[in-house]
Amino acid sequence: MIVTVTLNPALDKTASVDVLKVNALNRLREITLDAGGKGVNVSAMIRALGGKSVAVGFAGGGAGDELLSLIAQKGLKADFVRIAAITRTNVKVVDNKGALTELNEPGPTIQPTEWREMESKLSGYGVQGNIIALSGSLPAGLGADTYKNLCALVRRAGALVFLDADGEALKQALQSEPDAVPDCIKPNRFELLQYFGIADDERVTDARLAELCRSLIDKGVKVVALSMGADGAIFASKNGVWRSAAIPVTARSTVGAGDSMIGALAYGFEHELPEEQRFALAMAASAGACTTVGTNPPERALVDELLQKTRLEKIA
Ligand SMILES: Nc1ncnc2c1ncn2[C@@H]1O[C@H](COP(=O)(O)OP(=O)(O)OP(=O)(O)O)[C@@H](O)[C@H]1O
Ligand SMILES: [Mg+2]
Repeated sequence: MIVTVTLNPALDKTASVDVLKVNALNRLREITLDAGGKGVNVSAMIRALGGKSVAVGFAGGGAGDELLSLIAQKGLKADFVRIAAITRTNVKVVDNKGALTELNEPGPTIQPTEWREMESKLSGYGVQGNIIALSGSLPAGLGADTYKNLCALVRRAGALVFLDADGEALKQALQSEPDAVPDCIKPNRFELLQYFGIADDERVTDARLAELCRSLIDKGVKVVALSMGADGAIFASKNGVWRSAAIPVTARSTVGAGDSMIGALAYGFEHELPEEQRFALAMAASAGACTTVGTNPPERALVDELLQKTRLEKIA
């Protein structure tokens, strides 16, 4: 079973205005609501591929109810911890030129009893054969060691852990002993270079990136998927390093492309696809995700079509 975890989900509210004005009243039109959460995007991709998952997270108040109902409308199974505070609502305003203004709430503070409930839920899911995919930022009330501790808890119980985090939370998770680091991580180029404290300039060649990914494999990470937007991706494991260009598509929204990549990697692991096929599926799924509006996943048929165009080259 695949379990996706979003500790800091949001109700995403998108609206339009003609021209956005400060110090003035703006009347919003065409308001749409969506379930915002990186783990929810991962679950949606898995479903589009024909797989199953359970989405786990925190939900509170009326916004939390709305979030859960939107997740259910996507056909996804959810198992959330109810919290006392109210789930955040993030407002995105698009003007008539397409410019996007985002107003994000800080989100609720998680209370110690609520965290214990989450921990016990995840230790229940953390059994041999399960994949736990942890994605996104941490809510207030939880320390930067949260993912590190969850990784250790769940991995030592025999489950695989996928982690999509950055900054201090990623750094701490990678400081664990080899049996407690995440099994798979998917940094983008910025996140990987930030982790190593390297400035992004012309010296950062593919060979250098491959070396950095290999050094993480030496720490005990089984798969490093380094995503580079329209520049494609590098995949590393103990068996080697592969490079793929991005599959050319007409991109509508690249938001959540990385989440689709994780969904495809988790699906590929669960279905025991050979390694190269898992990486190819990750390329096709993420390119497909760019063709849809917002964070909606692509149809399986499109992913299969894009899979035919995927070329992985072994570079180390
Ligand atoms: N314009 C594009 N055309 C084709 N494929 C793309 C494009 N942008 C992204 N992708 C695919 O999606 C993958 C993930 O994208 P990216 O590196 O932007 O992830 P990310 O920064 O983690 O995004 P997010 O966190 O919003 O999900 C890329 O490795 C690539 O395979
Ligand atoms: Mg990302």
